[in-house]
Amino acid sequence: MNDLTPDRTMLDPIEIASRDEIAGLQRDRMAWSLRHAYDNSPFYRQRFDDHGVHPDDFHELSDLAKFPFTVKKDLRDTYPFGMFAVPRTDLVRIHASSGTTGKPTVVGYTRDDIDMWANCMARSIRASGGRPGDICHIAYGYGLFTGGLGAHYGAERLGCTVVPISGGMTERQVTLMQDFRPEIIMVTPSYMLSILDEFRRQGIDPRDSSLKVGIFGAEPWTNAMRSEIEQAFDMHAVDIYGLSEIMGPGVANECVETKDGLHIWEDHFYPEIIDPETGEVLPDGELGELVFTTLTKQGLPMVRYRTRDLTRLLPGTARTMRRMEKVTGRSDDMIILRGVNVFPTQIEEQILKCEGLAPHFQIELTRKGRMDVMSVHVECVEAHADPSARDASAKSLAHHVKSVVGVSSVVVVHDPGGVARSEGKAKRVVDNRDG
Ligand code: DLL
Repeated sequence: MNDLTPDRTMLDPIEIASRDEIAGLQRDRMAWSLRHAYDNSPFYRQRFDDHGVHPDDFHELSDLAKFPFTVKKDLRDTYPFGMFAVPRTDLVRIHASSGTTGKPTVVGYTRDDIDMWANCMARSIRASGGRPGDICHIAYGYGLFTGGLGAHYGAERLGCTVVPISGGMTERQVTLMQDFRPEIIMVTPSYMLSILDEFRRQGIDPRDSSLKVGIFGAEPWTNAMRSEIEQAFDMHAVDIYGLSEIMGPGVANECVETKDGLHIWEDHFYPEIIDPETGEVLPDGELGELVFTTLTKQGLPMVRYRTRDLTRLLPGTARTMRRMEKVTGRSDDMIILRGVNVFPTQIEEQILKCEGLAPHFQIELTRKGRMDVMSVHVECVEAHADPSARDASAKSLAHHVKSVVGVSSVVVVHDPGGVARSEGKAKRVVDNRDG
């Protein structure tokens, strides 16, 4: 793999500014953002008043803890446009996330917000090793999902040649990659695995592809999966994080030279880690729920938005901006099985340790009497498809899950291609416990 470390002169100066400078900028911008939310969003005015706080109470970054949290339900309760802080006519774009139940959550952007987003995404692609002039194959879904258009505007801003293919039609994805020879691919890690399968199905060695870096996110994935993809394609695989409520992709991104967690673009997004039970702010380094406050967003400012994502804050390395550790999982994707907390990423890690198994999987929960049962549906690879090899793989996975994760599971090894594929975010947990 080539060294893709960007030259320091290519970076935005704030990416490598001193901590004092970053904190000073954050303080000024935070004061503006709280005031903007209070003055222009009736939702926030009411919320701050109910909580007995006022933007004048903010002097230092630590004062943020006095302000109330915002949660996904607040967006649902004010559906569709009730939280915006600008007249609807000032919004140039709407996105929405489907959500699992009920109405989607709607987010909106002014022209300046779209511009800031494009800059953050361009910075993310550059941190990943992308350069002006690269061809960028974007297989995140286009539409109401923020992945496709978010990546698109950033890649254009950086000066890439964009192929806006969106998700799906996997055969054509591979054909166009062979014909156009992109250096960069942006896609969910689970869909990248489907693309990998398709390369092999067409008899093309993925290591001969033109790709030099993949920018993967929108769902949790492990370092074990990183190695799997990097080896298969002989390219760099880096992690990109974001969420619609805060902006979309490009809130944080790994640097290709270190791959040690995601640098948060702290000049626009202020992170906190809280104890999800008590709401108390935890010191850097401790695991908890990630909370963001936007510092520059006009259309939909967000004050202390609870992401439900579990991670920890770490000091900067390749940049002075702080890092977040790879997300372990979402608190709502956490399975509590006989008292043990289990995340799909832990299962992914164990699957990748077992010879003979492909990295596609889904976890199914069922109830037997009063007992919850966790079944792991996984596939064998072609070369390990005979019954005795499958049996050995199943035993090995069940053993690893029991000894490392600490729970018993039923492992079902399907034929190659037997586990549902995703073209976007993978659905890792299917809960069949009721009915
Ligand atoms: O998934 C935005 C995005 C698009 C990020 C493309 C990266 C690439 P939402 O649909 O609103 O937005 O979902 C946000 O996805 O709270 C996390 O739970 C999860 N997520 C996003 N990126 C990562 C990641 C987009 N790198 C939710 N690792 C977030 C783990 C991620 N989880």
